[in-house]
Amino acid sequence: MTTTDWEARYQSGDMPWEKGEGSPGLADFLRDRPDLPRGSVLVPGCGTGHDARTWARHGFTPTGLDIAPSAIRIATERTAAEGLNASFRLGDFLREPASERFDWVFEHTLFCAIQPADRDLYAESVHRWLRPGGNFLAIHYMIRDVEGPPFGCTQEELIERFKSRFEWVAGWVPRSYPNRAGLELMIWWRRRAE
Ligand SMILES: C[S@@+](CC[C@H](N)C(=O)[O-])C[C@H]1O[C@@H](n2cnc3c(N)ncnc32)[C@H](O)[C@@H]1O
Repeated sequence: MTTTDWEARYQSGDMPWEKGEGSPGLADFLRDRPDLPRGSVLVPGCGTGHDARTWARHGFTPTGLDIAPSAIRIATERTAAEGLNASFRLGDFLREPASERFDWVFEHTLFCAIQPADRDLYAESVHRWLRPGGNFLAIHYMIRDVEGPPFGCTQEELIERFKSRFEWVAGWVPRSYPNRAGLELMIWWRRRAE
């Protein structure tokens, strides 16, 4: 198993996931639900912070977490330049104790980016960082590739991995970036109380 050197990818500019804007599916989700209670949001694997800034524009309090120092630096600079209320910090979502428990955890191309062998750890981590009753909103990249990142997954695998700790709220195919149209699956889960 080879692990990805994420910092090296930022430093060399090898970032095909970087689309210059936040996820269209997230923008639609928040636009269509103006009455959601505002709260704290963890964006693990936040990259350069586009999605965290989308949450901030809608009145939430996002924290972006990323393992790559360059991602955190760029995210912090861009957010300050826009005067938005989002914070960013360096950290390993899979292996760190939760510094606080959030109302929301938002996933966007982190699950498909980690080693598939770490997927149990990922599900445990979402549970650890969310308060009981908190929301896990995920935008999964539904490709078949086995040589990643990104690594493929299926809807069946996602349901199997998350259903014991999370209650299904809704799932749909969102609006996507042009080169991902029809390839994303958005799932809204709620953390079970235990
Ligand atoms: C494919 S990129 C997606 C970035 C961003 N979510 C986006 O969609 O633009 C995956 C990101 O996850 C970060 N990452 C990988 N493993 C991580 C971990 N264990 N903890 C926190 N961040 C991680 C990488 O540095 C990278 O920024």
